Amino acid sequence: MNDSKSLHSRIAKTVRDIPRSGIRDFFEIVSSREGVISLGIGEPDFVTPWHIREAAVLALDRGVTSYTSNMGLLSLRRGISKYIEKKTGVVYNPKDEVLVTVGVSEGLDIAIRALIDPGDEVLYHEPGYVSYNPIIQFSYGKPVVIQTKKENGFRLTRAELEEKVTPKTKVLLLNYPNNPTGAALSKEGVEEIAAFAIEHDLIVLTDEIYDELTYDREHFSIISVPGMRERTIYLHGFSKAWAMTGFRMGFTCAPPELTEAMMKIHQYTMLCAPVLSQEASIEALKNADADIAYMKGEYKKRRNFIYSSFEEMGIPCIRPDGAFYAFANISRFGMTAKEFALKLLDAENVACVPGTAFGKCGEGFIRCSYATSLAEIKEAMIRIARFIKTL
Ligand SMILES: Cc1ncc(COP(=O)(O)O)c(C=O)c1O
Repeated sequence: MNDSKSLHSRIAKTVRDIPRSGIRDFFEIVSSREGVISLGIGEPDFVTPWHIREAAVLALDRGVTSYTSNMGLLSLRRGISKYIEKKTGVVYNPKDEVLVTVGVSEGLDIAIRALIDPGDEVLYHEPGYVSYNPIIQFSYGKPVVIQTKKENGFRLTRAELEEKVTPKTKVLLLNYPNNPTGAALSKEGVEEIAAFAIEHDLIVLTDEIYDELTYDREHFSIISVPGMRERTIYLHGFSKAWAMTGFRMGFTCAPPELTEAMMKIHQYTMLCAPVLSQEASIEALKNADADIAYMKGEYKKRRNFIYSSFEEMGIPCIRPDGAFYAFANISRFGMTAKEFALKLLDAENVACVPGTAFGKCGEGFIRCSYATSLAEIKEAMIRIARFIKTL
């Protein structure tokens, strides 16, 4: 009982069998080195705008330190409802259709847990966010993965969905704009997927955490398609566009029955999201349009630079529509994505994430985050160009 081997054997099999995130392992190597330029982190390099931080400071000063309603402060839920209506035209009742969560991470977890009985199948697409597969497995669901194709710019198609759907499919999990590819869907692309979901009577979870960060077209949410609001859990949060990762704030919008089911899990496991973060988020929704526009403008400059630099180097890159990632095709160098990333780190102190951290079809790609300063990105591109000359 005392030795670690016997303790290991007592850990639940589902947990034991799930590997640690590939990103985490890679960044343990990175953190042991000095002078690394990191294109690895999926986190804004901007500090949260001051007026948002100040709202938290002032709330603390007023002695706002208690629990809130399980669902979150009603004033925040009202703000969220207005914000979503403005963006999508879809109205959610702040009283029973909006739930404030601890990041989109918690929203994803409680959405899956609320829906999945053991063995239910969840369809999702890769390359994809590293949490999806484990979260489904923690709920004893069966992840059914669609490997999207580089030829389609990693955009999911109805034909790919039709191939994988079975009578056990219960949920379709979507993430556009996508981490790690930066791909976004056109309105027609979204409508095609919506038609599929309706025809097969699926519940859709849509992780739209990057929706503010689209550069060449307006984001179109699947909840705007007639017939989808009724069958969708919409997930969003403040981490990315508002640069508020450390506040751990997210929310779900969904019909009352689904919200109530998620609320039950949230109530017993989380109680509520942190009150100071909720206060800050009220301010974020009221007064941060200019901050978002500024940060988005900076990301766009970086996106343009990183994309054209890769192209000039002869490294094909899917032109990112959104989020803050470039997914660059390094397959011509005759090594795996992991080998490439490790060698680049070793030779030039530039860290990027091997595409395989996001699924099998990420082989041959590296993910470079441009949520880092343009000066650093410029230096990283010089180093990568120098590195590939040696190959
Ligand atoms: C696609 C996607 N969903 C969810 C999350 C988690 O975000 P949060 O900070 O809101 O938990 C991330 C974070 O990188 C992400 O990329």
